Amino acid sequence: MTKLSISQAQELLLKGDVVAIPTETVYGLAGWIFSEEGLKKIFSTKERPFFDPLIVHIDTIEKAKLLSSEWTVVHDILAKACWPGPLTLIAKKSELVHPLITSGLDSVGLRCPNHPLTLDLLSKMEGGLAAPSANKFGKTSPTTAEHVIEEFAHSVKVLEGGACEVGIESTVAGVEYFQGLWSVLIYRPGYFSAQKLQQILNDAGINGNVSYAESPVAPGQLKHHYMPNIPLIIIPENRNWSDVKDSIETKLNLTFSQPALWKLPSDPIMAARELYQKLRDFSQHGHDLILVARNAEDKSEDWKGIWNRLNKAKTLELTDQFTWVE
Ligand code: TXA
Ligand code: MG
Repeated sequence: MTKLSISQAQELLLKGDVVAIPTETVYGLAGWIFSEEGLKKIFSTKERPFFDPLIVHIDTIEKAKLLSSEWTVVHDILAKACWPGPLTLIAKKSELVHPLITSGLDSVGLRCPNHPLTLDLLSKMEGGLAAPSANKFGKTSPTTAEHVIEEFAHSVKVLEGGACEVGIESTVAGVEYFQGLWSVLIYRPGYFSAQKLQQILNDAGINGNVSYAESPVAPGQLKHHYMPNIPLIIIPENRNWSDVKDSIETKLNLTFSQPALWKLPSDPIMAARELYQKLRDFSQHGHDLILVARNAEDKSEDWKGIWNRLNKAKTLELTDQFTWVE
């Protein structure tokens, strides 16, 4: 792998190229927000439809304010408490934001990632960097530089920054205000839970509620996403292949000879960190089926981000009673 320096990355971005950048969540495929060529290249490289909006990465709240026409007190409080970190805030966009970034929406997703190399790069870029996860559309997100290289068959240059600590994408949240009450709506669950964001609002004396939004507002919220290349079946805790083989093979009308079993770690931080790496490893190392075994603790709110991804990546789920859930 040819290692990119920060100044080389900056040079490529300024001339309209894309560069993969490390963040604490997953690697992003970045283009400079003031280069239409760079923005178009993000979509063509990812084979991403233009209706799916991009997140803009910035290194300071000041830059976020320039890109937003309505930066509210709640945006400010959440950004000050969580940035740099895995929270994307949706805000009304300013005219500096190209329509390609927002897919024509009047709002923009803004996030300050917690990775020293990317923060350094961002400090050298006017505006910011638009960056979706650095994977082909709908596929598993990359958590190492090697994943990016594989995904794009060496055609994308990577700012190498080690393995991602958090492992799943940022919490995406929007802010609304109506008759004296603030509402923070989580569109994509992640490291920052509703409970955590609620605590931040309470500590700041804000009259507001944080909740999870039900309806899909953008394709990242659609049912199938993050898909590995082989079937993924969720199975009950303490079960293994011999317990579930007949049920699965009958249901899928297929036989499997190389199943891989991943028992979810009991700690959600570890589970998030390992998730995408495991999905990739299993699909690449000769397995023909992934089994993900639940554990007794995996229903608490801290698991919401992981279940959001697993439910979109799964083919089917087998319940404790051996019934099937789509
Ligand atoms: O952790 C992350 O957020 C990673 C790293 C690279 O920063 N990025 C990422 O980008 O996950 P992407 O494009 O894969 O997911 C962005 C999500 C999508 O579900 C998109 O639809 C949603 O954010 N989004 C972006 N702008 C939005 C907007 N204005 N309104 C609603 N949703 C928006
Ligand atoms: Mg993505």
